[in-house]
Amino acid sequence: MHLTLQQLKLFEAVSRLGGYTRAAEELCLTQPAVSIQIKRLETQAGMPLFEQVGKKTFSTAAGKIMYAASIDILKRVDELKTSIEELNGTVKGPLQLSVVSTAKYFLPTILGAFLHQYPDVVPKLKFTNRARVVERLMNNDDDFVIMGQVPQDNNLEGYPFLNNILGIVAPTDHPLANKKNISIKELADHRFLNREIGSGTRYVFDQILKEQGVTIEPYMELGSSEALKQAVIAGLGLAILSLHSVQLERDMNKLTVLDVQGFPLKRRWHAVHLKGRKLSLVARTFLDYVLEENHSVLEFEYT
Ligand code: PGA
Repeated sequence: MHLTLQQLKLFEAVSRLGGYTRAAEELCLTQPAVSIQIKRLETQAGMPLFEQVGKKTFSTAAGKIMYAASIDILKRVDELKTSIEELNGTVKGPLQLSVVSTAKYFLPTILGAFLHQYPDVVPKLKFTNRARVVERLMNNDDDFVIMGQVPQDNNLEGYPFLNNILGIVAPTDHPLANKKNISIKELADHRFLNREIGSGTRYVFDQILKEQGVTIEPYMELGSSEALKQAVIAGLGLAILSLHSVQLERDMNKLTVLDVQGFPLKRRWHAVHLKGRKLSLVARTFLDYVLEENHSVLEFEYT
């Protein structure tokens, strides 16, 4: 088969995005340019790789086989590029990370300092919730991921770094604001705001409620810690949040951390990858940086 890497790249994008137009947009090409190359690829394969049903583009059986192969080939080419750069000993090239949404409150600071030292690194960050990060981790899609708790799986390698302190936060004028030793059960008498299912923070809280046999019916479910924080400030309810995300608001006296039994919870952030994954020089250097640098501005103990 005579096929080019460019054709495989186009083909991968059409399969992943489910259409010629979206692939053309992503690759900054025209739609006819993409379809000509896919036609050539189909001629090489001797059969159609896509079929059009209504307005949707679906992969044929041959297309599915070609997709798996193209991912493999493109990954190997990337690895080859990285290995050659490593022979030069230069910390240069792509750094692909998936990061749980709550880590956006500290990871950019670490990454910024790292890029200052290694300006030729090209970071690609995906901020999403824990469930999606776990999925990407198991698919080996990233150099490594940043998350709270490491899933229980013997195939994973996890490295703890900064503290992740979780607290129950409330507006400063909330009736529980000055109360001492509040029980989890008491929280159920107040409006409580939750993150979405799939969030690591939500998972931790659900576990605690289960252990204590308490049910709290959420007043509202919001899809990010930032949305939760704003809703708490607006007086819509209480929420469990990583204290990394509310540092400024606490300093500005917009929020307070309640004195709840068993809280604040002290957890650790972790960098995680599949055991046996061969990290590129860039990924290794960044991982060492995350683990060894003294990120004292970001570290805090709850008092
Ligand atoms: P989350 O994850 O941002 O999905 O809540 C936080 C965590 O993994 O602890």
